[in-house]
Formats: sequence, C-alpha cells, structure tokens
Amino acid sequence: MERVKTYIDFSQDSLKYSALSVAFNPIFWNIVARLEYNTHFLTKLALGKPKCGCYTLAVTIFSLGIIRDLLYEKALRDQPTYDALDVLPVKIFAGLIFAYGNVLVLSSMWALGVTGTYLGDYFGILMDARVTGFPFNITDNPMYYGSTLSFLGTALWFAKPAGIAMSAFVLAMYMIALRFEEPFTAEIYAKRDRERAAGKKEK
Ligand SMILES: *[C@@H]1O[C@H](CO)[C@@H](O)[C@H](O)[C@H]1NC(C)=O
Repeated sequence: MERVKTYIDFSQDSLKYSALSVAFNPIFWNIVARLEYNTHFLTKLALGKPKCGCYTLAVTIFSLGIIRDLLYEKALRDQPTYDALDVLPVKIFAGLIFAYGNVLVLSSMWALGVTGTYLGDYFGILMDARVTGFPFNITDNPMYYGSTLSFLGTALWFAKPAGIAMSAFVLAMYMIALRFEEPFTAEIYAKRDRERAAGKKEK
C-alpha cells in the first residue's frame, strides 16, 4: 500500500518545543514588561537604575531568542523535506528574504538602540520622538516582519513545509503581541505628552 506523503511530521517532539518557544517568548516579555511598568521590580533589582533593569531584560529576551532559533533549527532537521522546494530558484529566493529579514531586524535595532528595542518605554525610558527613518518608513513593525521573514527564509532554504507553517505561527504570535503592545505603549507616550503639555501651561 502506498504511504500517504507527509508534509509535516506532527509526531516530532522537536516541533512542539519549537512552537512552544515561539509562543512563549512574546508572552514572557509582555508579562515581564507590564510587571515592570506596574511594580518597577526590575529597576528595583537593578538598585534603582532603569537602564540596568532594561539591559537585563534585553539580555534575557535576546538569549530566549537564540534558544528559540536553535529549537527551530532542530525541529526543521527532524521534518520531511519537500523535493519540489529543493531547487535553486527557491534557495535564491530563500536567501534573499532571509537577508532582507535580517536587514529589517538589525536596522531597526540600530535605529532604536537597546532600550528602544527592548521595551525601555515600560521602564520609563522614552524615545524623544517617534523614529520614522529606515526601516520604519517601510513598516511600523520591521522587527516582527523581519523576524518572520528570517523564519520563512530558513524554511524555504531547507525545503521544509513544517517551517513554512511555523513561520505563519510566528507571524500570528507577533500579531497577537502587537494587539497588547501597541495600545499600551501609545498610552505611555500619550501620558508623557499630556504631562509635558501640563508642564508648559504652568510656566
Ligand atoms: C526609506 O528610507 C530609506 C533611507 O532613507 C530610503 O532609501 C528608502 O527609499 C525609503 N523607503 C520608502 C518606502 O520611503
């Protein structure tokens, strides 16, 4: 009897661990950042220095990102390869979107700095003005779209349908995270602007 061809092998534990870590990271940083905003526990742990607290969170999130990437790579290795994707034009396309994704991520880190990238606003470290230059003139969320493209590029490079599905999952998690982050940070800045306006009136 002919075996049904599997595109995604859901029986692999490595796939579950990869998906878990993709979902865990944005949940983790949103919970920690909101706790920080409400209690300043990281700033207190950093002896009252918000910048040190934010750097600690940055190192933690960055490390979780590396673990997530390693789990993804491991998961892909355990997954079936789809031969039709295992061709040169797909590899070239994969390399291009992987590179473009990394350009988006790295250039937005460069434009925002460490505290701007890693939730400094929740520590009270606000940007003076909204960053509008590259890559923020292309999309409001270059880091999330760039990261998704890196996942997709990797999936296509290794010709793994499971990786394409994981990239969609990555994007979905980021979209959910944005629904929590965008209104919250908008309110942090709106509050700052109200306080500034009130300060001006007093003078
Ligand atoms: C964004 O800014 C970069 C650098 O200033 C520029 O080269 C690019 O054309 C801009 N893109 C858009 C879509 O405006």
